[in-house]
Amino acid sequence: MGMFSFDTMVVVLGLLACFIMANHVEVGQSSPVERLVGGGARDRDSHVRKLQEFKLNFFQREPTVSLSSSSSPSPSPTPSLPGRRGSGVFPVTAYGADPTGKTDSTDAILEAISDAVSGDGDGFLMEGIRNLGGVRISLEGGIYMISRPIKLPVAGRGNMLISGGTLKASDNFTTDGYLIDLSFSSSPNLDYNYEFITLRDLMLDCNFKGGGIRTIDALRTTIDNCYIAHFATTGILVQGGHETYIRNSFLGQHITAGGDPSERNFTGTAIDLQGNDNAVTDVVIFSAAIGITISGQANMITGVHCYNKAYGFGGTGIHLKVPGITQTRIVNSYFDYTGIVAEDPVQLHVSDCFFLGDAFIVLKSLRGVLNGINIVNNMFSGSNKGIDIVQLDQTNEEFKEIGHVVVDKNNVNGMNLKATVAKGITQVNGTSWTVDFNGILLFPRRIRFVQHALLLTDASNSFPNTVLRNISNNQVVIESDTIVEGSVSVSVDQSPSMSS
Ligand SMILES: *[C@@H]1O[C@H](CO)[C@@H](O)[C@H](O)[C@H]1NC(C)=O
Ligand SMILES: *[C@@H]1O[C@H](CO)[C@@H](O)[C@H](O)[C@H]1NC(C)=O
Ligand SMILES: *[C@@H]1O[C@H](CO)[C@@H](O)[C@H](O)[C@H]1NC(C)=O
Ligand SMILES: *[C@@H]1O[C@H](CO)[C@@H](O)[C@H](O)[C@H]1NC(C)=O
Repeated sequence: MGMFSFDTMVVVLGLLACFIMANHVEVGQSSPVERLVGGGARDRDSHVRKLQEFKLNFFQREPTVSLSSSSSPSPSPTPSLPGRRGSGVFPVTAYGADPTGKTDSTDAILEAISDAVSGDGDGFLMEGIRNLGGVRISLEGGIYMISRPIKLPVAGRGNMLISGGTLKASDNFTTDGYLIDLSFSSSPNLDYNYEFITLRDLMLDCNFKGGGIRTIDALRTTIDNCYIAHFATTGILVQGGHETYIRNSFLGQHITAGGDPSERNFTGTAIDLQGNDNAVTDVVIFSAAIGITISGQANMITGVHCYNKAYGFGGTGIHLKVPGITQTRIVNSYFDYTGIVAEDPVQLHVSDCFFLGDAFIVLKSLRGVLNGINIVNNMFSGSNKGIDIVQLDQTNEEFKEIGHVVVDKNNVNGMNLKATVAKGITQVNGTSWTVDFNGILLFPRRIRFVQHALLLTDASNSFPNTVLRNISNNQVVIESDTIVEGSVSVSVDQSPSMSS
């Protein structure tokens, strides 16, 4: 039943794709004119020439002519190649791609891309990156089966869009490959392979064979409104380069809406950032062993909802593998039964996040370094199992080099509040009293700063001297020279380092 309706849907989508394509031809043909008007830099003769060319193209087309390319598995209904005639739009069906997803469209799509990147473009972006002017590879709302990664045949190209359809890995897709692979094996003279490539409105079904998207040494890449599912390895891998912006997208190994009976078996990583200055914004990760792995600096995570695999089943929401130089900001995100693990973090900011289902943050020691941490203004909700909101994992090594760590102003329901700043008040009747902060303080044996004040029941004649006797073991011991009756307020802070 389910299979039947899916097939039916595919056929309907396929038919739709044909209509869209038919429309698309006109849109594609009109774009050189638009570009001329918009560009304004061309002379009048060329304007007229292009218009004539456009008219010629428009009336020339006959539905019987097929593509000459031997690599195309099916005859194309489109006679001329819109891309080859000067339009910047390259509809893949014009190259023989099969929008029903039944036959292999790899060669056709690669050919469309090859044409798209072969134009002269308009000067350069970064040195050595030819500006393609915004060429568009259109998937025309179709579903295409591919058996090899979609790659550019050359490096040094920029200002290009691939959008508007589904790519699906075939059963023989290379298991270590990525459906869209913005990498190039050898570009010796270039700092970056590609610049300003946009991947938008795509569904990538990896069919449990490989990964979704990979970028290597690409600059200013946008991945927008993509749905990436069934990856065996990684949904999106970013290596080197800068500024890959992943936004407004959905990633999951299995298509589920939570509480999946197979959740325990989820594997793979939804997003792996092995580079600097990337941003993941407004992204949902609905299944994967690890939501986001980060091993570069200055990455920004905001508006991410991780419910990929519960911590209880061995999952992690965000894993920060940047010991000693973390420089990561995680804000305004939602950790749903899965948390954050940060290895030897130095400069990590986590704020305005919601942790649900006993989710928590682990600061994991590799070499015992922990510095520049802000975990502030978050909400934690749990089920009264006594789970600490922030935990230290010191199984490898105790944290020895602890710098400025601020865990404060978090609110908690059904979990144990942990903080580096705490206040206590206790009743006093005697000359010595102790306030124990072990319940709340994050670090054992590490109070760096204490303030206290006495409120006497009868203060008329009394002016006692007090002294701070002991702060070891997170217990503050205060003594007075006379018997004091009243209460004492104590505030402690673990964050200042000794010298500051
Ligand atoms: C992979 O499978 C497709 C059809 O599913 C076929 O067209 C293609 O030749 C196969 N490729 C290899 C390398 O076996
Ligand atoms: C998880 O995987 C194991 C073995 O890999 C299998 O026996 C088990 O049935 C799977 N569980 C679910 C719920 O799919
Ligand atoms: C304080 O201690 C004294 C002597 O131990 C006792 O007499 C007094 O009632 C105590 N005051 C309060 C408020 O408990
Ligand atoms: C502080 O208290 C601990 C026990 O909590 C004790 O071992 C230590 O000797 C005390 N230090 C001083 C200076 O009294």
